[in-house]
Amino acid sequence: MRWFAVFVSAACFSLGAAFTSQPASAEPLAQGPKVCAECHKSEAQIWDGTKHAASFKEVHKSPKAKEIVAAVGGEKNMKKNEVCTQCHYTLVGADKKAEAGPSCESCHGASSDWFKLHNDYGGPTVKREAEAPEHKSDRLAKAAAAGMLWPHDRYGIAENCTECHGLANPKVPADALAKMLDAGHPAIAEWEMVQYSQGSIRHRFYPPNMTENAKMTAPELARLFVTGQAAKLTSAAGAVAKVDSPKYKEFQEKRIALAKEVLSKVTSVPEAKALIDNPSTENARKLVGAIADKDLSGEVGGLLPAEGTYK
Ligand code: HEC
Ligand code: HEC
Ligand code: HEC
Ligand code: HEC
Repeated sequence: MRWFAVFVSAACFSLGAAFTSQPASAEPLAQGPKVCAECHKSEAQIWDGTKHAASFKEVHKSPKAKEIVAAVGGEKNMKKNEVCTQCHYTLVGADKKAEAGPSCESCHGASSDWFKLHNDYGGPTVKREAEAPEHKSDRLAKAAAAGMLWPHDRYGIAENCTECHGLANPKVPADALAKMLDAGHPAIAEWEMVQYSQGSIRHRFYPPNMTENAKMTAPELARLFVTGQAAKLTSAAGAVAKVDSPKYKEFQEKRIALAKEVLSKVTSVPEAKALIDNPSTENARKLVGAIADKDLSGEVGGLLPAEGTYK
């Protein structure tokens, strides 16, 4: 599997480059989860059972939602309010209609620019194992360059979850985020990747056993934990600089402190301290690269959430 490891770093590199440069084309558009479900039955079934899916029929009805909408202003219908829709819904097509809660493309990237490349693997009946390795690595690199957030870019995935869950979505004006918080919008400073991604939302159907939704091993969990803290620190450090609201600042500062507490336990690689001293996406990606083959359970294992608390 050596080719795979080589490929992984190459794809992460190209994805990193894509993040730092402005996209040449217009913003990519989403197609909605039904399109993905045509081929991805197991993943779609899992998503159907998540709060992300259920939320579409529920969240806008709560009195709290109405209060928050009123405080933020704009369209009264949460499904049309330009602030709420950025995080709560999958906005499909050019007219950006809310057609589902957060779904496949909220986490894997809006697909208009990568969909053709993604499907260039020989048709829906071809089993994953049947695709030639060279074709696969080429397909994945091209899809990533076209905006797909692919599962093995752990940092990219964590950064994306954190933008919504850390109330730091760059598509939402900072003063709107502060108003939401002041109006009682939930804000969970303790939010981290292991507890929130290894419960209801976990879908890990990988070769050789494509029918098993595999749990992570202890070293994988420890790396995901640290990767999530790196994303948390970077996003909170970026957000805290943007808004003056005391409540918003307090929330982001708490996230920073919690992330630093974990990262300070990672003493086997110098990249952890470098990130603490200078929180940036570049330093976060360096840390994630440095721990790629490491087992950090000894350093952070004691801080990981217990399986029974997974959401
Ligand atoms: C025509 C069938 C088809 C459709 C439609 C489809 N996929 Fe896939 N997808 C596949 C196949 C087959 C694989 C497995 C390829 C492999 O593992 O080598 C795959 C793999 C993936 C992966 C794992 C990384 C990769 O590229 O191998 C992700 C993530 C993914 N799809 C997301 C999506 C999302 C999101 C959508 C909807 C926008 C979607 N797919 C639509 C067939 C499809
Ligand atoms: C930056 C992303 C973001 C934006 C923008 C956003 N939300 Fe949320 N909202 C979340 C997340 C994430 C949660 C779940 C709580 C958590 O995990 O932090 C949530 C939870 C909620 C809840 C509680 C739901 C429950 O199940 O208890 C309500 C109500 C809500 N949001 C209303 C709104 C309204 C109304 C707007 C628009 C004015 C809005 N949100 C804008 C991310 C966002
Ligand atoms: C909350 C974010 C989130 C949502 C929503 C989501 N995914 Fe994923 N997806 C992930 C993460 C994280 C991984 C990486 C899993 C791992 O390797 O640990 C992943 C992995 C995958 C994979 C590769 C592993 C596998 O199970 O084959 C495919 C394919 C995939 N997702 C497709 C989809 C499809 C299709 C949907 C919608 C029905 C979807 N995802 C919804 C976050 C998400
Ligand atoms: C586009 C924004 C967005 C992204 C990206 C996103 N989420 Fe969410 N997530 C939400 C919102 C909004 C809710 C709250 C829904 C509600 O309560 O109605 C939520 C709820 C959840 C819940 C349910 C929490 C509970 O207390 O039951 C989990 C678990 C979760 N998200 C995990 C993740 C993970 C892990 C990722 C990344 C792999 C992720 N989310 C990415 C917006 C997002």
